[in-house]
Amino acid sequence: MQFRETLTYDDVLLVPQYSNIESRKEVEIGSELNDKFYFNLPVISSPMDTITEAEMAIAMCAAGGLGVIHRYNSIKKQCDMVSRAWDESDFIAAAAVGITDDFLKRAVSLATSGAKILCLDVAHGHHILMERAIKTLRDKLDSSIHIMAGNVATLEGFNDLSDWGADSVRCNIGGGSICSTRIQTGHGVPGLQTILDCAQSDRSAKIIADGGIRSSGDIVKALAAGADFVMVGSLLAGTDETPGEIVTTGAHHLQNQRKVYRGMASKDAQMEWRGRSSSNEGVTTYVDCKGPVANILKDLKNGIASGLSYSGCRSICELQSKTTFIRQTGAGLNESKTHILRK
Ligand code: XMP
Repeated sequence: MQFRETLTYDDVLLVPQYSNIESRKEVEIGSELNDKFYFNLPVISSPMDTITEAEMAIAMCAAGGLGVIHRYNSIKKQCDMVSRAWDESDFIAAAAVGITDDFLKRAVSLATSGAKILCLDVAHGHHILMERAIKTLRDKLDSSIHIMAGNVATLEGFNDLSDWGADSVRCNIGGGSICSTRIQTGHGVPGLQTILDCAQSDRSAKIIADGGIRSSGDIVKALAAGADFVMVGSLLAGTDETPGEIVTTGAHHLQNQRKVYRGMASKDAQMEWRGRSSSNEGVTTYVDCKGPVANILKDLKNGIASGLSYSGCRSICELQSKTTFIRQTGAGLNESKTHILRK
């Protein structure tokens, strides 16, 4: 049996390169999903019930990114969210659907309500049911609808979803902050490796690096490895625009304001949306409230632009052609993190 070496975000760094960029304003971090949908910020919010409903989708669009409204609700409720958001000017509505049961009815209703991007959203997307679902949507829906699908962990998965008709593919399985798929099932490929592998594809589908992104530095690494966009959950969790109540935890002067962030395959989420749970492949956690998502997105934007300028690049495309990755050791990683000495 042969084992190949695989890498993830903390294993690598990008080597700084000569730059003639005099201001970060010269750096363009936009990316396109297709010739109609260009985004100034290559960041998409996850279709999770603690991340993206109408408010988050509107805020993501306002910041130049995209939000995918989750599917863990009635068709009517999800369509209302899409319509609400679409009234907003310049809004590109994206919404998730499954691949079984009422997915076709949901997809048609969402498209009628104004969704321009439909995300076929399942944990293991390299699957016969995904093939049927993509082909059905391609057959039944207007060809202008963008089909995002996933998730996959391999080049073969990426190519197949692309050949079945997906316009963009969410890449990475089990790498998200609230995921326990790899522990529960023993399956997965480290997140950055998945992107490096999928970037070998000769298909034109866009690559969405999904899950495990903890900083603007990780975003720059994902883009450099070949991603067109990143999809994030935990980076946005706890912001004002996420669904869910604020809870106060801790005693008196140590009180914290928090919100729930949970995996969609967690026991909690499954019980709430299906009334039963099978294999639990996610966890539930509380995160501190972070205020308006616009502040987080502004920081990410600045960090990504700064990242490109360290590589001497004015665009993501240039970054992908010029980039040099190096491996770092555990000691290198420790040095890379803030490490001021404490008494
Ligand atoms: P981050 O790291 O941004 O990851 O919080 C968000 C992504 O995680 C995926 N996701 C799950 N994966 N079990 C999993 O294995 C789950 O319960 C689960 N819920 C979400 C999803 O791809 C999301 O965008």
